[in-house]
Amino acid sequence: MSDSDAAAPLLEIDHLTVHFPGGRSGFWGQERLVVHAVDNVSLAVMPGETLGLVGESGSGKSTIGRAILRQLPTTQGRIRFRGEDITKVTGEPLRNLRRHMQMVFQDPYASLNPRQRVIDIISEPLIVHGLARHRKDTAAKVADLLQRVGMPADAASRYPHAFSGGQRQRIGIARALALSPEFIVADEPVSALDVSIRAQVVNLLMDLQRDCGLTYLFIAHDLATVRHISRRIAILYAGKLMELADRDAIYERPRHPYTEALLSAIPIPDPVAQRNRRRLVNDGEPPDPLHPLPGCRYQSRCPYATAQCRSVEPPLEQKAPGQWAACWNR
Ligand SMILES: Nc1ncnc2c1ncn2[C@@H]1O[C@H](COP(=O)(O)OP(=O)(O)OP(=O)(O)O)[C@@H](O)[C@H]1O
Ligand code: SF4
Ligand SMILES: [Mg+2]
Repeated sequence: MSDSDAAAPLLEIDHLTVHFPGGRSGFWGQERLVVHAVDNVSLAVMPGETLGLVGESGSGKSTIGRAILRQLPTTQGRIRFRGEDITKVTGEPLRNLRRHMQMVFQDPYASLNPRQRVIDIISEPLIVHGLARHRKDTAAKVADLLQRVGMPADAASRYPHAFSGGQRQRIGIARALALSPEFIVADEPVSALDVSIRAQVVNLLMDLQRDCGLTYLFIAHDLATVRHISRRIAILYAGKLMELADRDAIYERPRHPYTEALLSAIPIPDPVAQRNRRRLVNDGEPPDPLHPLPGCRYQSRCPYATAQCRSVEPPLEQKAPGQWAACWNR
């Protein structure tokens, strides 16, 4: 690989917009409503890095992940993987693409079929892609995957109900790894797990990244979860990118009021410091994806909003080296 290849993003999304039909309104149902799930978001993920994607419920995180994996049509914009435009790819090229990009889901209880044994769950992608030709090879491959995610080999013959939430998520990760992908969208992979085991699963993902050269888009709704694993973090609010920066800049010098609010929600272990800290509570009107406000989408909750914020949308601009934010007053 040349130096220029090494510097090229593995994944780029360029002005991505995803809208959904939102039903009709008006007495006669004459107005077609549109859900503005994601609007004009541009991001790049470099090979081997973890980009954390953080935002509250409904901000469009899963929609971005699903659009990247081509599980949803894009309304506007481009998605490139390894430099190739995959925005409209279908058929056999899409099937091939799916070998390189996989997803780990939030809910390890809902995402594993309770009627399938673990060996069938993990080998399913191999069968779908015609890579499980010999039973013995497949069993050996599943045993290897189980070992890589810290599960005993005898787990293969059991059903998901025999396992805890953390173990089920390890099985989900093994399934995502079965096709040896390069890129994984981890959509809130630890949010449904007990707090005491979240760090173990995050550490497993980091070990696998190091050993297998994986690249992650790691989605979470809070800034505490993504801190350890992310190299850079993107902050999403109401379908728009608010801030994008290196991890330390986000935690030490946030440039967007919404990032400040997310940071102020992270509990501090010292009770005195916790009592005395300034909390930026996100009260105010929540965003309405059917009727996005003109100007800044964060205006209804922002303590610094001015008349300009209510009429003109702030561009995402560089505020410091490696740090971009969309705010008129920061
Ligand atoms: N298939 C769909 N049809 C209509 N609206 C949708 C669809 N999928 C998502 N939405 C809407 O798009 C917006 C973004 O949803 P999305 O699931 O991407 O948010 P999210 O950030 O992943 O939230 P959460 O943290 O709750 O998972 C929401 O308003 C949601 O209701
Ligand atoms: S542009 Fe205005 S409303 Fe938006 S975050 Fe900045 S100060 Fe707040
Ligand atoms: Mg989601």
